[in-house]
Amino acid sequence: MHIRVARVDDLQGMQACNLQNLPENYTMKYYLYHLMTWPSLSYVAQDDDGKIVGYILAKMEEETEEGEDTHGHVTSISVLRSHRRLGLAKKLMIQSQEAMASIYRAAYVSLHVRKSNRAALGLYKDTLGFTVKEIEKKYYADGEDAYSCVLSLKDK
Ligand SMILES: CC(C)(COP(=O)(O)OP(=O)(O)OC[C@H]1O[C@@H](n2cnc3c(N)ncnc32)[C@H](O)[C@@H]1OP(=O)(O)O)[C@@H](O)C(=O)NCCC(=O)NCCS
Repeated sequence: MHIRVARVDDLQGMQACNLQNLPENYTMKYYLYHLMTWPSLSYVAQDDDGKIVGYILAKMEEETEEGEDTHGHVTSISVLRSHRRLGLAKKLMIQSQEAMASIYRAAYVSLHVRKSNRAALGLYKDTLGFTVKEIEKKYYADGEDAYSCVLSLKDK
């Protein structure tokens, strides 16, 4: 298994991985926007046959309120069922976080996660050390609440 920065020719594989795993789906244009604007923040996990088995799509937050620190944001992450619990999501997150801190001087990284997403909450809170900043009521299209989570990147 190989983790590397995402390229335009990975987009179809990333979208396929997203469609299999998540109800939050995006247009090709939105993926492309991430890769073109922040080319070092999105990564893929590729198997030995070249298949994309996981990805992280991430960006910098552009509209920060006055006085707010510059920060990165994870738009989406997923790993195919066949390749879970191998540490891929953890590696994808860490690669992106390191780039946010070193290239863009991000003070912290933020993300949203469904209250019911036990696997993702385990990854973010237990493995990576994110904390819940607030609950955003009915954040998702189906009415589920989101935890808005943050992790400081200072000293990273
Ligand atoms: C969440 C997801 C990305 C995790 O991917 P993964 O590659 O299996 O995660 P990792 O192997 O890197 O796991 C790292 C840690 O996360 C936690 N974790 C991962 N899956 C878990 C599960 N099913 N239950 C509880 N904790 C879990 C564990 O602490 C794990 O460490 P450990 O294996 O040493 O115990 C994956 O389950 C997935 O793609 N889910 C569907 C899409 C999704 O929900 N994306 C997140 C949207 S916010």
